[in-house]
Amino acid sequence: MPEDEIQDKSRRTFLKAMIVLSAGAAVAGVLKEGLSNLVTPSVGLTSFPSLLIVDTNGKPIIADNIPVSTSVPFLFDYPLSNDPNFLLNLGKAIPATKVSIPATGGSYNSPPGVGPNNSIVAFSAICQHLGCTPPEIHFYPPGTSVIGTAYTGSSNPGYIHCSCHGSTYDPNAGAGVITGPTLHPLPPVVLSYNSNKTLTAVGMTPGSPTIYGRVSDLTGGNPLSGSTTEVSYLSG
Ligand code: FES
Repeated sequence: MPEDEIQDKSRRTFLKAMIVLSAGAAVAGVLKEGLSNLVTPSVGLTSFPSLLIVDTNGKPIIADNIPVSTSVPFLFDYPLSNDPNFLLNLGKAIPATKVSIPATGGSYNSPPGVGPNNSIVAFSAICQHLGCTPPEIHFYPPGTSVIGTAYTGSSNPGYIHCSCHGSTYDPNAGAGVITGPTLHPLPPVVLSYNSNKTLTAVGMTPGSPTIYGRVSDLTGGNPLSGSTTEVSYLSG
């Protein structure tokens, strides 16, 4: 074959290779971008934050001012934003309680109540059955009727009940399971009672279930900004 024909053939082969490589790089770029849009980034925290519980004006909640067993309980986000928790003053000392996990047969110790009367507790307000949130999951003060159940009057010592499918939890005993279909208790928040009568959320209880829908309590959502978490109120 003449030399100039050989050179032509080499050039054509080289150009074809370049075209194939460029096309491959373009496809890889599109795929990478598409995948990064499909896979939700796992944002979160590396450890539990200490968040002072404040009112909507940014002023610390004083433990003495939390109403006892009200049907309008405080809610606050912890450890990530959009992780609502009940903040309840049950009006009596709440001891540390061994809580069973029906799903696993295991158990853990829920923290005791804090505050001047050791009566303040906090639990995730996301139902452990299928994730219903307030107002579907609700605190019913002692003696009130728990909607859709036989718990009325003295048979209701103050229960948390989820109207989505009927799960009931006992906040007097670590938010353990009273009735299913849930097979997991509500995870308790560990609270610190400070010398100035304020409250700080410092962690989720070791050994308790993770917050509903989470592989870890620390990932899968956005951290709260700053060092406080603000209460809202569950009405109705
Ligand atoms: S989501 Fe609460 S009982 Fe089903």
